Amino acid sequence: MTNASPFQPLQLGDITIQNRIGMSALTRSHASSTIPSDLMNEYYIQRTLGAAALIVTKGILVTGQGTEWPHAPGIRDSEQTSAWKKIIGTVYRGGGRIYAHLWHVSILSADSMNISDPHPKTVYAPSAIPARGGKFPHIPGIPGYVTPTAVPQVSIDQFKQATVNAKLAGFDGVELHRANGSLIAQFLDSTANTRTDQWGGSIENRSSFGLEVLKAVIHVFGRNVAIKFIHSMPLKETLDTYRYFIAEADKLNLSYITLFRYTIHANFEIEIDGAIQHDMLQSYGPYIKNAKVFLDGAVFPEGAAILISARKIDGAFIGLDWITHPELAEWVLHGKPLGNALDVPHVKGKLAQDWTVGYTGCPAAIYETML
Ligand SMILES: Cc1cc2nc3c(=O)[nH]c(=O)nc-3n(C[C@H](O)[C@H](O)[C@H](O)COP(=O)(O)O)c2cc1C
Repeated sequence: MTNASPFQPLQLGDITIQNRIGMSALTRSHASSTIPSDLMNEYYIQRTLGAAALIVTKGILVTGQGTEWPHAPGIRDSEQTSAWKKIIGTVYRGGGRIYAHLWHVSILSADSMNISDPHPKTVYAPSAIPARGGKFPHIPGIPGYVTPTAVPQVSIDQFKQATVNAKLAGFDGVELHRANGSLIAQFLDSTANTRTDQWGGSIENRSSFGLEVLKAVIHVFGRNVAIKFIHSMPLKETLDTYRYFIAEADKLNLSYITLFRYTIHANFEIEIDGAIQHDMLQSYGPYIKNAKVFLDGAVFPEGAAILISARKIDGAFIGLDWITHPELAEWVLHGKPLGNALDVPHVKGKLAQDWTVGYTGCPAAIYETML
């Protein structure tokens, strides 16, 4: 078997990506009134021209029930969907590929942020358990109580509808957010899900919501569905739950699975509520037999190349370095050292009056020769 390289193409579901360096979801507030903006268009084309193999969009809310991000985009109506279509067209013309990152914040919703609906809606969650501690980083208030879902079908349908719209807009696929705090995570987590019906209790029952969501979106998008994982419970329970869930999810013929590890950068901690640090690849890699495997969380660039070359992963997703280096993959291909500084307050969500700050305003590389 020959070694693989980060710059070899890779088949993902129905598409082929040009290399193995993807850009992770980086949710921020640049969609005024939840409509994807021209500024986002510019941001994504910069990264497309920087040779991002696959752009995973910032989190796209599948429901208007609320968010702690005042300007996070949606994909629920024709205006939002058309605005995504425009962005996707630009990415394609630049030779890029793009997945929609779908999320549902559930108990992290803020009542005051029912952005697309002035009338407060039910906040769905597995159980009426408030989010643990903390406050909203971008708006006033703290996460509060929620109403349990009588029937999770309403939330499954929201994911399905968002996927229908994502396909309509022209996305290459969808990636489900199963990171800290999202609805799928809450169903899996026994401290957030205390239901005694078929959606709670045993590992199989707690897994069923996420698996049903996956089946619903696969029904729409076939092989072009992916999921990103992170851990959230005490270690033994995390291992038992996620090994089961990942093995079952993998049987559904996903395009890829991303394993996201807890990360502390020099000046920026990726906060993960209740995260237990452990080796994601060793712990879950053996349970993925069909989907392509991506690792995420401070894996770049040398570490990614070693793991790809040894065929321990198929590719890597990078987060912060894509913000600071719009042409990241090109920089690496040219052996150019990464040197741009992170604008921490703006990346953490502080909105400058000028929205380009810490977003599209990062300097591009200058090459002596282009390949
Ligand atoms: C501003 C910001 C927003 C993020 N939003 C999301 C998100 O919505 N969904 C998600 O799965 N990960 C999100 N992440 C995590 C990144 O996708 C990525 O996994 C993380 O930054 C680790 O990769 P890195 O070490 O290369 O930065 C976010 C990270 C940052 C810094």
